[in-house]
Amino acid sequence: MSAPGRVLVLGGTGFVGRSLCERLQRAGWTVRVPTRRLRHGQALQPLPTLELAQADVHDEAALRRLLAGCDAVVNLVAILHGRPAAFERVHVALPQRLAAAMAATGVRRLVHISALGVGPGAPSNYLRSKTDGEAALSAAGLDLTLIRPSVIFGADDRFLNVFAHLQALAPVVPLAGSTARFQPVWVEDVAAAVLAALQQRSSIGQVVEAAGPGIYTLADLMRLAGRWSGHERPVLPLPDALGRLQAGLMALAPGEPLMSADNLDSMKVPNVASGTLPGLAALGITPAALEAVAPLYLGQRPGRQRFDGFRAHARRD
Ligand SMILES: NC(=O)c1ccc[n+]([C@@H]2O[C@H](COP(=O)([O-])OP(=O)(O)OC[C@H]3O[C@@H](n4cnc5c(N)ncnc54)[C@H](OP(=O)(O)O)[C@@H]3O)[C@@H](O)[C@H]2O)c1
Repeated sequence: MSAPGRVLVLGGTGFVGRSLCERLQRAGWTVRVPTRRLRHGQALQPLPTLELAQADVHDEAALRRLLAGCDAVVNLVAILHGRPAAFERVHVALPQRLAAAMAATGVRRLVHISALGVGPGAPSNYLRSKTDGEAALSAAGLDLTLIRPSVIFGADDRFLNVFAHLQALAPVVPLAGSTARFQPVWVEDVAAAVLAALQQRSSIGQVVEAAGPGIYTLADLMRLAGRWSGHERPVLPLPDALGRLQAGLMALAPGEPLMSADNLDSMKVPNVASGTLPGLAALGITPAALEAVAPLYLGQRPGRQRFDGFRAHARRD
């Protein structure tokens, strides 16, 4: 068991990061979080000992400064949409720079969050770049734990909340990739897994698949989000060509698209645990069922809050 120390959490202002930072602090860790804009870290400000700093994590010298005095690093920085060069910069070049900065400062312990679906022949820019990022870190000789989550749900998710909002607005939901399979995992279980990995030296060298107990198609998840939020609409599965047309049109709209052609490519491989690698149980975690958690937050979003998912999507935060 490793004693708590100071941990640098890259991407700590995000969806997983917010749960993780709170959990780390409760467990006695001193948490340092860099951000591109201080206002992105507003939700972390109540955490009394958290060090929030504006910094460019793509700059190796800045990374070395951030690493000073740290015992461990968690990397949560990722993007879901973008051009191939953006995926390369965030998912490959940043891990390479991080590994170089860790070697220079003597910080060895890293928990890196990847994604289910990575591997040889990964079908999308997102998954290929995540695969290359993992490979770069694995070759760097660090004390590394890789965690690969399926899609993550939780009160602030941009997944079931967006599905629920869509159905509040539209009489029918045209859905691309409707038969794609997922094994959703609760954000608190992912955060608990990262903390457990930091605490358990036996997790060094492990690749852990973070998935919940149930497997669902995308259409199932859309229907459940509608039902639990009180406005279930018919789901109209779109054939691949129409799905790509829809994704192309979404890419023209301002803000992050709900679904990109690259996301559709990612869905060509099942987003479910392989069963050949350790799961959350290896870190002592029994993952919560979607049915036990999601109805509680989807059913309780009155007034202005109902549109938070859309606001986050449009980056009006
Ligand atoms: N959410 C899911 O369903 C899901 C599923 C599978 C895997 N994962 C993985 O889990 C990890 C955490 O995901 P998340 O949902 O918490 O992500 P998130 O909410 O999008 O947060 C990512 C953080 O990364 C930082 N960031 C984003 N783009 C950046 C860029 N271009 N340069 C520098 N920093 C940037 C942002 O920090 P600032 O804005 O403060 O700079 C942001 O808070 C990621 O590795 C993701 O791939 C997530």
